[in-house]
Amino acid sequence: MKTVYVTRRERFNAAHQMWNFDWSDSKNAEVFGKCSNKNWHGHNYELFVTVKGEPNPQTGYCVDLKKVSVVINKHVIDYLDHRNINLEVPFMKDKLASTENLTIAIWEQLEEEIKKIGTQLHKVKLCETENNFVEYFGEE
Ligand code: NI
Repeated sequence: MKTVYVTRRERFNAAHQMWNFDWSDSKNAEVFGKCSNKNWHGHNYELFVTVKGEPNPQTGYCVDLKKVSVVINKHVIDYLDHRNINLEVPFMKDKLASTENLTIAIWEQLEEEIKKIGTQLHKVKLCETENNFVEYFGEE
């Protein structure tokens, strides 16, 4: 059988602040620069969710991407879009609001839900800006 990788893109925008509460204001400013602004800043995030599987002989599909989209929206986008990541997103509670931590948290939100629609999560890619993105494959 042939394994294919299928990706769905979703978008959201959200506010955050990079801040380590173990550090002084000046240390936070030194490490995080503009990202430490106490009055927040935002990003237009792009999220790419890749699943893997074999094309079903009857549909030619590996998975119905509409179902993937519904899962992503229900378990990720609805929590993040137009929200403050530091203050309002349950799965980011007590975590530094970096793209790295957010990417891992999104994987954890999706892994079991993607199984329920009959496919396997392969990669979560989260773009914070045009130039910066993070990928997670579920590795420890
Ligand atoms: Ni930022």
